[in-house]
Amino acid sequence: MDWETLKTDCLACQRCPLHATRRSVVFGQGVENAEVLFVGEGPGEQEDLQGIPFVGRAGMLLDDMMKMIDLDRSRVYIANIVKCRPPHNRDPLPEERDACSQWLKKQIEIVDPLIIICLGRIAATSLIDEDFRITRQHGQWFDVGGRRCLAIYHPSALLRDVSKRPETFTDLREIRSEIRRLCPEVYE
Ligand code: URA
Repeated sequence: MDWETLKTDCLACQRCPLHATRRSVVFGQGVENAEVLFVGEGPGEQEDLQGIPFVGRAGMLLDDMMKMIDLDRSRVYIANIVKCRPPHNRDPLPEERDACSQWLKKQIEIVDPLIIICLGRIAATSLIDEDFRITRQHGQWFDVGGRRCLAIYHPSALLRDVSKRPETFTDLREIRSEIRRLCPEVYE
């Protein structure tokens, strides 16, 4: 399946009840053959309005975090576990995640990144290990289907609790050195 067909099918998705309350399907944004893929949880209010991932307050922080390690949206791809906004920004339900997982799976196949960065617990428990503990396991590399995968705290968690920021800065530096090692062209 090619990218445009995937996107068209995803934008018409009605596989779970979230389709009934969404204003946009937030498919993703970035370079379609990126070596680095960031995966968040699901759209919030601004993302639902604009149809673009991470454009609210958490998104501004994500931009700052990427900038700290010399990345920006033109060098990576950004997607979410669920493509439609859960009402009142609640966590996506297991059945919503399951219904949506085929889209991200196909996005990962087509983008074919070397490195996947999970933003927060929901992405890490979906992609790395269902028992993933973000407080203990953030900053560690895992093999996910032959790709290097690491989770950091979600930018929203860093907005709520600034004491987590120093650890995240260490994790970000680890990400930068792995990018330099595995795919230095990202920085060219
Ligand atoms: N939080 C997420 O996890 N994803 C977004 O796209 C925006 C906020």
